[in-house]
Amino acid sequence: MTRQEMLYEGKAKRLYRTEDEQVLWVEYKNDATAFNGKKKASLDGKAELNNEITSLIFTVLEERGIPSHFIKRLSATEQLVKAVTIVPLEVVMRNVVAGSLARRLGLEEGTPLKEPIIEFYYKNDTLDDPLVTEDHIALLDVATREECQQLRTMALHINEVLKALFAELGVDLIDGKVEFGRDADGSLLLADEISPDTCRLWDHATGERLDKDLFRRDLGNLQAGYQNILSRLRGAHA
Ligand code: C5P
Repeated sequence: MTRQEMLYEGKAKRLYRTEDEQVLWVEYKNDATAFNGKKKASLDGKAELNNEITSLIFTVLEERGIPSHFIKRLSATEQLVKAVTIVPLEVVMRNVVAGSLARRLGLEEGTPLKEPIIEFYYKNDTLDDPLVTEDHIALLDVATREECQQLRTMALHINEVLKALFAELGVDLIDGKVEFGRDADGSLLLADEISPDTCRLWDHATGERLDKDLFRRDLGNLQAGYQNILSRLRGAHA
């Protein structure tokens, strides 16, 4: 398999075609962005950390009955994935109040939720990824109502499996974001990445932040937090 022309460059990854139209080549970047690109930095080693963390997480999810677009890790910063058409929605799963939920509803960060909640955000940089309802999603023709229900069910299941996976490592999954794509048959498949860039991860014992809030809020060294997560994952699953 060889890397061919670049199809897309995002904030954290580049996507390339391969000679197989069903397979794409992903290259992780060292770039860290927050607040829809308003805060930026290049952080040495971040690409390697997220590539390996995402690869390990998708591998464990597959073993636990949750398929994804992930095929295999190719190198320190690259992986192969199944080609899907990304649904332009960020599906956020929450277990504990944090971030925009705390701000939007005036709730205290760190308060556990009685049950997990799911939110949809429309992926659109110009609009700053607004929170949308299922009516908005139907209006925008981004997904059908039936697909919204399916996305919700899939996200709740992924959240339960991820919560257990991190609990085994002594880490609390506070919240996280997943994305889905449609395969050639139109079926929804978990895609993109799952890493400390896309999940809030707090050490269970100390509450130490081990995720992108280290960068967003200048709380400490991002690479040290991500390395901590990777070491625990390797200890249990590599
Ligand atoms: O900012 P907010 O509290 O809404 O983020 C909820 C979760 O979704 C966090 O884990 C955050 O890392 C993730 N997220 C993301 N990409 C975005 C927005 C949020 O990965 N564009």
